[in-house]
Amino acid sequence: MTAEEIKKKIQELSQELKVHNFNYYVLSKPTISDFEFDHKLKELEQLEKEFPEFASEDSPTKQVGGDITKNFVQVKHKYPMLSLGNTYNEEELREFDNRIIKTVGTAVDYVCELKFDGLAISLTYEQGKLIRAVTRGDGVQGDDVTANVKTIRSIPQQLKAGDYPDYFEIRGEVFMHKATFERLNKAYARELEEKGYDEDEIKEQLYKNPRNFASGTLKMQDSKEVAKRPLDAFLYFLYADEQVSEYHHISLEKAKSWGFQVSEHYKLCKNIDQVIDFIREIEQLRDSLSFEIDGIVIKVDSYALQEELGFTAKNPRWAISYKYKAASVLTQLEKVSYQVGRTGAITPVANLKPVQLAGTTVKRASLYNADELVRLDLHEGDWVYVEKGGEIIPKITSVELSKRQENLFSKPIVYATHCPECGTELLRKEGEAIHYCPNEQGCPPQIIGKIEHFIGRRAMNVDSLGAETVGGLYRKGLIKNYADLYSLQFEQLNGLSFESEEEEGKKLRSIKEKSALNMLAGIEASKQVPFERVLFALGIRMVGETVAKKLARHFGSIENLAKAGEEEIASIHEIGPRIAEQCVRFFAEEENLKLVTQLRNAGLQLEIQEEPGVERTNKLDGKSFLVSGTFSISRDELKSIIERNGGRNAGSVSKSLNFLIAGDKMGPEKLKKASELNITILSEEQFFEMLA
Ligand code: IVH
Repeated sequence: MTAEEIKKKIQELSQELKVHNFNYYVLSKPTISDFEFDHKLKELEQLEKEFPEFASEDSPTKQVGGDITKNFVQVKHKYPMLSLGNTYNEEELREFDNRIIKTVGTAVDYVCELKFDGLAISLTYEQGKLIRAVTRGDGVQGDDVTANVKTIRSIPQQLKAGDYPDYFEIRGEVFMHKATFERLNKAYARELEEKGYDEDEIKEQLYKNPRNFASGTLKMQDSKEVAKRPLDAFLYFLYADEQVSEYHHISLEKAKSWGFQVSEHYKLCKNIDQVIDFIREIEQLRDSLSFEIDGIVIKVDSYALQEELGFTAKNPRWAISYKYKAASVLTQLEKVSYQVGRTGAITPVANLKPVQLAGTTVKRASLYNADELVRLDLHEGDWVYVEKGGEIIPKITSVELSKRQENLFSKPIVYATHCPECGTELLRKEGEAIHYCPNEQGCPPQIIGKIEHFIGRRAMNVDSLGAETVGGLYRKGLIKNYADLYSLQFEQLNGLSFESEEEEGKKLRSIKEKSALNMLAGIEASKQVPFERVLFALGIRMVGETVAKKLARHFGSIENLAKAGEEEIASIHEIGPRIAEQCVRFFAEEENLKLVTQLRNAGLQLEIQEEPGVERTNKLDGKSFLVSGTFSISRDELKSIIERNGGRNAGSVSKSLNFLIAGDKMGPEKLKKASELNITILSEEQFFEMLA
């Protein structure tokens, strides 16, 4: 690699890891396995070590996670909360042991503990009373989540009499039991289903594993909600200005006697061989534990030696974690197939010989995109390692090369050149990883996907029509696009039988009289759905619910939007040139104009419904307002007047705010902040004068 390439690689890796950190700590929704994350982090560390000149100040290698959320009070840790170095094999563990022996001159005792897969918490007790609970945050300061932690039954709020110090901190891990996770996630899935979310949306919304569920829960604002999602905690480290003993294992026993929950699975080991035995022992019983662990933590037992060994910038030198590899299994690739999404995006999928992995049968694994096939150098009939790292969709981590038949029959998999559904040549845009099928109007899964989107809960909300029925109607030739829904007749639907393609294979379905009537009633009712949702339902790329709302308000009707140029669209607050381009492109297509005409003839709402007597102007375009206090009309009414005249309602006083409309009884704080920031303050009368 050239210097330029190395620099670029370092930047890319850093950026990628930052995104993963954010997904993991802040959103509680990780998109890669811990193993992969650590692997990438190590790769970055190695590169930065070799080329320190390219390492940035805020590199993820220099940071300790980061779970700070903006809604909690921040508390600085009295003792920083560090993370541990990771090892994945015996060799690295022995190196850790050797380093210690070299520093202190003798073999040392270690305490081995489970590495609980939850989130770190620091609890402060004064006179035996829990006074504060703080998350790790960035290691220096974290979120004050005391109210939420008080809902955890195993954490004592008041200790009984004991030999504990007046003031101490105890650290541990908050987690959710596997069974609780399964139960709550299932209930949550049912709730979403009832609300009309589709399968993909549900998958997206659900927590991926107990750790994320626990973390999402602990960061909720409402402790009553937290109490409904039982959490648990193990404590594993004591901090006091004067330690209560000379050895960590004695502190653990003392903490237990004061009423803290300390795991029974810990062991005092005399040397590294005993440590390795413990690791293997726990690996055997790992699946039978009621909670998840991702490894073993090894700590030097003596506090005096801990002090002697000290810390690196990020980790203690006296402790390390040994991480178990994610469950992985070897199976054979049967074929690669390609899925086509609503927007034409292609996802390659590995179809595998069914195999058991961590309690479920795995038949498929996502291959993401063409680059992934290159990375794996996948050949026909390859034996592959499949891993499920806490996530729902399994992935192929590598190919077992020793099993590849080195003969003429084992050809590399070549990425599809044509759409498997409609035969159109696939495109891949410069710089993008994903291939697209450009045949928007004629490719069945794209058409069916668009119709499904159109009838979705947040769009036209035709809940009497399901995805299978839409597919059936399309294949039977009754509908070719969403506008055709409005010409469906009872006679066509009643008794219609069709094959539906489902997970378990094809199924024969038929529409009964009552369903047919329901479908037609649902379609009829959708004609009253307001314009902004119709606009969202059209499926214009990049036009989500919020953008649709903004466009609807600005243009008032589909005619006006269809006539508008890119510049005008992009001039709307928070609508960028790429969205503008997609809108113009949509209305430039003959086919789409025909659809719109068909929808108009069917009687859909293609313009904004004005309340009688209410005018719409652009007088407040680009200006932001904050309404505070009470007025002669309701606050909602005032806000709606602002929006109808092109203005925007802001949520708080900030530098970017243009006007504060001050009513009676408004908070003095807001007024003070607004005047400090030199924001124009208007009375109700002045505001209406502005509009006049
Ligand atoms: S001791 C300086 N003990 O692992 C010592 N940590 O990467 C710090 N963890 O942030 C922690 N089980 O969230 C310790 N038995 C255990 C643990 C444990 C899980 C977590 C903890 C910490 C992370 C370190």
